Amino acid sequence: MFEKITPQPLFASTIWIHHLKAEVAGPLNQHLARQIDRLISPKPPRAPGETWQTEARLHTLPEFSDLTALFMTAAKGVLEKLEIDYGEFEITGCWANVNPKGGIHPVHNHPNNYLSGVYYVQIPPGADAIQFHDPRHQPTLIAPRIKNYNAYNSIAAHARARPGQMILFPAWLVHSVDPNPSDEVRISISFNIMFSDYVQRMSYPKWDGIALERHKNTGG
Ligand SMILES: [Fe+2]
Repeated sequence: MFEKITPQPLFASTIWIHHLKAEVAGPLNQHLARQIDRLISPKPPRAPGETWQTEARLHTLPEFSDLTALFMTAAKGVLEKLEIDYGEFEITGCWANVNPKGGIHPVHNHPNNYLSGVYYVQIPPGADAIQFHDPRHQPTLIAPRIKNYNAYNSIAAHARARPGQMILFPAWLVHSVDPNPSDEVRISISFNIMFSDYVQRMSYPKWDGIALERHKNTGG
């Protein structure tokens, strides 16, 4: 009856997965793991489920400059794909996460930024996923049982976390990480990106009003 049916997903919440070349990722990850271990040692005690996190200013440390250069290049590429009219952007926060066995990241987003990202340094077996959650509230109101989950009916989706892989995503996109089942730590580095000149360049209304200059010489 129908010549064809064409599903057209609307308003995509796109994540941008970047795969570093193995010959670059190998030595970089060894270096990063050493630096992060130095920064968090001696490790303060953690309750079950908790994780170690550094301060959020790794991007100011020279030991992380190669990585932050990669973050900037990746973010520039994503902003170009999004065709955003911007002037400058910067990393506003960058921190390492070290999940021991059982360590999680509960559901959260990254407020006050435009893009966020995560780079994977060390991923033990079974700890290789990040969950992204549907930002729409409507699908949870009428929520029938699902026979098979697919791209059209799911309200959560995971992306694979692999060493040397970086995922950029909208900072508002809610995400979480399940418990690390391994005795080996899971190491990732998170970062945020925001426009440096947001107020000056980007916040003025997008519409044009009646020009104020018309009243310049009339005292009106
Ligand atoms: Fe996060």
